[in-house]
Amino acid sequence: MDRDLSINLVRLTEAAAIGAGRYLGLGKKNEADGSAVDNMRKMLDTMHIEGEVVIGEGEMDEAPMLYIGEKIGIPGMGYPKVDIAVDPIDGTIALAKGLNNSIAVIALAPQGTLLKAPDMYMDKLVVGPKGKGVVSLSYSVKENLLNLAKALNKDVKELTMTTIDRERSQYIIDACRELGVRVKLFADGDVATAIETCLESSDADILIGRGGAPEGVIAAAAVKALGGYMECKLIPENDEEIERCKVMGADYENVLTLDDIVKSNDIFFAVTGISDGALVKGIKYHNDVAETHSMIIRGKTGTIRFIDAIHHLEQKPHYAK
Ligand code: FBP
Repeated sequence: MDRDLSINLVRLTEAAAIGAGRYLGLGKKNEADGSAVDNMRKMLDTMHIEGEVVIGEGEMDEAPMLYIGEKIGIPGMGYPKVDIAVDPIDGTIALAKGLNNSIAVIALAPQGTLLKAPDMYMDKLVVGPKGKGVVSLSYSVKENLLNLAKALNKDVKELTMTTIDRERSQYIIDACRELGVRVKLFADGDVATAIETCLESSDADILIGRGGAPEGVIAAAAVKALGGYMECKLIPENDEEIERCKVMGADYENVLTLDDIVKSNDIFFAVTGISDGALVKGIKYHNDVAETHSMIIRGKTGTIRFIDAIHHLEQKPHYAK
């Protein structure tokens, strides 16, 4: 894939964030999502790719745009054939409530290299590059924490584990408390938090917890591009979900390694903040100007770019307001 694609990709997440950011704290989850999807979909048409949405807004009959299987771009032009994984808003409820950690994200990878994951829960474990090879979903929480502390050359009490603030996370929190590991809870948005564990600048050393499978694949693309490590396990909760795994050819019986989820290093990943977060700051508006903060990662080289942009909205009448 041409390296210029990565710079163009950030325009998509900026557009989604500009549409969604207007709704911070307004309690209008669906309107925010509609605006982000609409803006991102329009910008996708400007990309020189021949792609298919593999992680999107839902099945074809559930979403009018960015649905799974939607074809993007013009065939026969020699453009790179890619899998597209999008979440125009990860943290929709957080945004509607005016909470942190809401982002717009997109990942591109060569055709056939991203896991086609059904929309259900998934267990996730994420660490940065130094934790590779010492943690696994097949080990207990305590084993993972002790192994990681050793690999990071830290006392276990210096380690920080992050997980989503849900009742289902309690057994993870209990294991941390027994060892004295620091715990950082987040209300929503495990894509941003997964990425944070791979960055030296973050205090989060490991993410353990259950969240959405589509978000898991998106996070895995970023984790792979950053040289971190992740394992996942799909958690179908009934026969219908098992059937969906079978139809999509997704393995729900085994722990999936990072290479099972993302099969290539040739990844482009872009994220723009909607509400504030530790990864990227949220969007601000003033006098018909929007200020965005984004990050782009290129997997082949591991280059991370932070891009701040000022958008003159009168020049962008095509954006949803
Ligand atoms: P969306 O906003 O994309 O729906 O997801 C937000 C999110 O917090 C994800 O980041 C996370 O994986 C999932 O929801 C957790 O699910 P639940 O809210 O059902 O616990």
